Order: sequence, then structure tokens, then C-alpha cells
Amino acid sequence: MTGKTIDRAVLRVLGGEAIWPPPVWLMRQAGRYLPEYRKLRATAGNFIALSTTPAMATEATLQPVRRFGLDAAILFSDILILPWALGQKLRYAEGEGPVMERIETLADLEVLNLHRLKPGTESVMETVSRARAELPAETTLIGFAGSPFTVACYMLDGRGGNFARTLGLAYSDPGLLASVIETVTTATIDYLSWQIEAGADCVMLFDSWAGLLPPDLFRAHVIHPTARIVNAVRHRHPGVHVIGFPRLAGLMALPYIAETGISAFGMDTATDAPALARLLPRKVALQGNLDPLLLRAGGVSLNYAVERIAGELAGLPHIFNLGHGVLPDTPPEHVAMLIEHLRSLDRPPLETSRETATSSA
Ligand code: CP3
Repeated sequence: MTGKTIDRAVLRVLGGEAIWPPPVWLMRQAGRYLPEYRKLRATAGNFIALSTTPAMATEATLQPVRRFGLDAAILFSDILILPWALGQKLRYAEGEGPVMERIETLADLEVLNLHRLKPGTESVMETVSRARAELPAETTLIGFAGSPFTVACYMLDGRGGNFARTLGLAYSDPGLLASVIETVTTATIDYLSWQIEAGADCVMLFDSWAGLLPPDLFRAHVIHPTARIVNAVRHRHPGVHVIGFPRLAGLMALPYIAETGISAFGMDTATDAPALARLLPRKVALQGNLDPLLLRAGGVSLNYAVERIAGELAGLPHIFNLGHGVLPDTPPEHVAMLIEHLRSLDRPPLETSRETATSSA
């Protein structure tokens, strides 16, 4: 593990400390909205080559930190690199997103289960250690994986969309869905543990499609595998922080926070942050949740929303972020504006401090 004496604001918040103004990073902070990324992407040819060539993936990881001085970098990769490393065919089609050769039967899954994960993920670990070595000491490096359910959605449907096949399988062939989730859960425990060993300071689980599930299936396919990953990763790396982002979980955020053991909850755009803060079943850091569309729009409403979100969570452990990823047509200047405005807020506005928020009921 990297230097315990080094002061990394994001790690302090993950440990339960409230910092004002809150530290900030953005989901999908590396990507097509940055001209330097588009240049690098053109040199790489395809997205998988970019993600699995350590020199290029390290460069993509560092680009947004260099430009904006964010408090955290996130490993440049993709949630589908894990099933790809297990041998499932993957390509990123122009303007269409990821396309996988889908898992039809348990026999297809067995082929992946025979695959060793290590060789296909070694380049990712090399990227993590290079990025950690090149980042400023105070910048937190976040490793990540997709959550088993969200990764299973792509593995079973073969592409993005409404994931009708995966959701239908929960009733028509629950054994197949459960087996895919089991395979991904087991692989994710190794994958995240290796990232921590390579130098990631903490890790995040992206569960973009968690909100598609009804409560009983949410417990089975989101809460249980997440708890298993958090426990197993922490067993290998005591004290390590895991951020969970079950997008559009709604009220299921409460049992998710209570039962998974995550250190921080990633709030999506639809989350009412102060309401969630009042209902928290245990102490946990909150991350989020500015609307990416507002970041794209910019202007005074952006500044106002930055003040409101930070103010509403003042006094609580909060990492400022978006409610979903940066959109590709976001002007980079708006990101600079967000960070500058957030850092100019030199004291929490009194009327929205935690005392008011918790005692007003
Ligand atoms: O946050 C970061 O900057 C780190 C890198 C990162 C990427 N994808 C890079 C990427 C992370 C954390 C992800 C997570 C991811 N990938 C999720 C979960 C978060 C979310 O956005 O909901 C999901 C569902 C995926 C799957 C995926 N990958 C999709 C649907 C797409 C196509 C949409 C798009 O934006 O192109 C990708 C491709 C992808 N992943 C790109 C990047 C930078 C764009 C590829 C390109 O440059 O052509």
C-alpha cells in the first residue's frame, strides 16, 4: 500500500472526514470531450489497444489531472476489459458502443471459467503502477471494475440497450444469470485486489444498470455480490476503501449502504442528496451528484448548483462528482469553471450546514 503519511483528501473523506471545500473528481473525466484524448485515441487506433497499452492508458489517466488539477485520477480502462480478459470477444463499434459475442449457455460460460485472468489483466496492473508513480503525491488513484450485474448485462445481451434478455433470464433461466454473476464476482475480487497491489489507493464499483432490478433481484444480484467483493477485497487488503455506485437504486440505496460494507456511496443525478444524508443507515461518505447536462450547459446555473450541492452536504464526508459520466460534447472550460468555483467557496454557507439539515424534521 502506498504511503500512509501522505495527505490525500479523497482518502481522508473515504475514511469519514468532512473537508471544506470537498475534494473533486469526475466520472469519465478522461474521454472524448478532451482534445488531447481524441489525439491519443486516434494514435491508438482502437479503444482496446488504448486501454491495454500501459504507456497510452497511463497518459489517458493523467490527462484530466494535468489539465484540471483534480483531487483524484481514475484508472483509464473500461468495465468490459474484465470479461474480455476472460476470453469473451469484444469490440467497440464506432458510434455504437461496446459489442460482445454474447453468452448463450452455461457451456459458453464454462469456457470463460477455464480462462486465467492474470495474463489479460497484466497490462492494466502495469498502467496502475505507472500512473501511481507519475501522479502528484496528493492525488488519489482510484482503481475500478464494473459491478457483476452491470457487466453481466453486456455479457448476456451482447450490447447496450434495454438489457431485455438479461432481465428476462432472471425469471426464465435464473441459474444462467446467477452463474454469470458468480463468475464475474470471483474474477472481480482478484481484479480489484491486484489493482490495489499495483498501487491503486482505493477502488470503485460501477453499477450503471442496478436500477433496472426490482427489490428482490436487486438484493440477489447487486447487494449480495457487492458485499462479497467488499469483504473479500478487504480481507486481502484490510482497511481499503470501496466506493459503490448502484445507479438509479432509489430506496434500495438504504439496504445497499447498510449491508454491502462500502466506504462511500456514489449518488446518481436523481438522488436527493440531503434527503439521503438524513436517512443514512450508517456513517458512509457520499460522492456526487451534479447533473452532467448542467456541466455541459455551463453558466451561472452551474455555479449555483455547485454551491447548492456542496452546501447541502457541508459537515459530512463528501467527494464532489457528477451524477453520471462527463458527456462527450462537454466544453472542457466548463470543467475548469466547476473546479475553480468549488475551490473558491471558502466556508460552508451556514443556512445549509449539516446542523440545519439534520434537525429540521
Ligand atoms: O471514468 C473514467 O474516466 C475512466 C474510464 C472509464 C471508461 N468507461 C472509459 C471509456 C470508466 C470508469 C468506464 C466505465 C463504464 N464503461 C461504464 C460504467 C459507467 C457508466 O458510464 O455508466 C459502462 C456502462 C461502460 C461501458 C461502455 N464503455 C460504454 C456504454 C461505452 C460507449 C459509450 C461511450 O461513451 O463511448 C464505452 C466506451 C468507453 N469507455 C469510452 C471511454 C473513454 C469511449 C470510447 C472511445 O474513446 O471511443
